[in-house]
Amino acid sequence: MTANELRSKYIEFFKSKNHVEISGQSLIPENDPSVLFTTAGMHPLVPYLLGEKHPAGTRLTDYQKCVRTGDIEEVGDPSHLTFFEMLGNWSLGDYFKKEAIAFSYEFLTSPKWLALDPRKISVTVFEGDENAPRDDEAVEAWKSVGMSEDKIAYLPASDNWWAAGPTGPCGPDTEIFYWVGEGVPPVGSNKATDSANWMEIWNNVFMQFNRVDEKTLVPLPKKNVDTGMGLERTNCILQGKTSVYLTEVFQPIIAKIEELSSYKYGSNPEKDKSVRIIADHSRASVFIIGDPKGISPSNVGAGYVLRRLIRRAVRHGMKLGIEKAFLAEVADSVIENFKIAYPELKANSSKIKSELTAEEEKFRLTLKKGEAEFQKLLPNLMKNPKKIISGKIAYNLYETYGYPLELTQELGQENGFTVDIEGFKVAEKKHQEASKTLDAGKAKGGLAEQSDITTKYHTATHLLQQALIDVLGEKVAQKGSNINNERMRFDFTFDRPMTQEEIKKVEDIVNQKIKEDLPVTMEIMTLDEARKEGARALFESKYGEQIKVYTIGRNSKTDWFSKEVCGGPHVQHTAQIGEFKITKEQSSSAGVRRIRAVIFGGLPLDSQ
Ligand code: SER
Repeated sequence: MTANELRSKYIEFFKSKNHVEISGQSLIPENDPSVLFTTAGMHPLVPYLLGEKHPAGTRLTDYQKCVRTGDIEEVGDPSHLTFFEMLGNWSLGDYFKKEAIAFSYEFLTSPKWLALDPRKISVTVFEGDENAPRDDEAVEAWKSVGMSEDKIAYLPASDNWWAAGPTGPCGPDTEIFYWVGEGVPPVGSNKATDSANWMEIWNNVFMQFNRVDEKTLVPLPKKNVDTGMGLERTNCILQGKTSVYLTEVFQPIIAKIEELSSYKYGSNPEKDKSVRIIADHSRASVFIIGDPKGISPSNVGAGYVLRRLIRRAVRHGMKLGIEKAFLAEVADSVIENFKIAYPELKANSSKIKSELTAEEEKFRLTLKKGEAEFQKLLPNLMKNPKKIISGKIAYNLYETYGYPLELTQELGQENGFTVDIEGFKVAEKKHQEASKTLDAGKAKGGLAEQSDITTKYHTATHLLQQALIDVLGEKVAQKGSNINNERMRFDFTFDRPMTQEEIKKVEDIVNQKIKEDLPVTMEIMTLDEARKEGARALFESKYGEQIKVYTIGRNSKTDWFSKEVCGGPHVQHTAQIGEFKITKEQSSSAGVRRIRAVIFGGLPLDSQ
């Protein structure tokens, strides 16, 4: 079986269990300031897990691209990836633990589906704590499909309680592991007794609670199931391989790197690691740039993570002796390999390659400058009898010139110096505390907190987009939006700064529409139907897939101001938004403008 087949089989299996296939979403989360990337399959479904009605029903299945960069520097071992795909099935107040577990087990072991050896499967369940009791319901469900007691490990919340962020939907989970050791596992072996030989492949989360703050768990209106199967890992065990990098998911990419470097994968452990880093990071970068809401390398937020991925890949390319810009060529093999499941990559291929090359060339220049700077510092450093380069100097080279610590170490070594690594870490920590956006996986704040104020901002975003089009013309297209409790940000394509008059006009239109107190209504239809009605849509969806369309206006067919394909939620009528004010209009990147705006006053939302 290949990864492509596994993806299709998974969807097919859950369709046979009355699930509806929905499209995976962007890697860049919509209206969620708390994370930089979509980090799990459940991420785009947060509003529905919290109670919002999903247009496609209560049983859903999908595959979702994800990026997790909690600690980029750790990627490089045979199983960790920054970009990965998650296969998911979802129950929104429909089935619960018993059925979810039975589905998982059938899919994994049935000869008709994956036909995995049941002896090589073990599971973990939540052992219970002050928040919730031991998950005996899950244990019973496992026993009823034939899991023996000794294959069930009971673990604490740190292992078996899943939450995407410090707040938001969460609950106990049961994780499924596959034996990757020699032969068959000995009797009594499970995750608790032998953690090295059991690899996690699938997680079933029973979303029963919403964490409102550190101390408060509120039961959700409905009990949901959120599952995530790691595509690359499951594919790897199905093929009996010892590393995801040895499967066809990575092989063509690795072959390209071998060709460019004349290094043969498997001949040197250090160099193998470099190959894996290049393969992983270039794949992640291609998906981040090639996303429908794709971003460019920059010094903040998600753009900064992208920059780090590209630069790390270049650095490891240099270690393999690749002298010229090469990532665009690696990108070609990534695009080719994933173009069927992710057609956006092919559509955006020239943008992907030009962004990669531009960043790579910039970085290569940076490295030259850093090296020159080091040479300048050298005479002074030589006066230091201990031959230590302080952490501060090393960090300055990194921060100012982008010159990586390990290259400073290398240059230092050539001249008989060691680098104060601890000092470097101290300097780095100080800097990180100053700019908190460094780590995508560790962003603060709750995930997709759907407070009233963010709902109001969300509707204001729709009004703003239509007002911009009315004033500036159809060239305006949404590039991204970001909302928190204090402000909204809206990026759109436009080739020059707006004039004061234009800004005022846009503001006036939005405030006028608020004053008219227009109703906001939602209808469910297909993308084709939505387009026919004139709705704006940022995404493609699967043919025939049911999606939500939000209309702002007195009549959703004949008299409306704004119509957009969107997951919601929104206010019920526009007067709830209050006053709207644009606080800033500035450039965001080439051909893209950014507006910041605030709202105040307004009426409370009706309770649902
Ligand atoms: N949300 C869970 C995870 O990411 C299951 O999808 O592991």
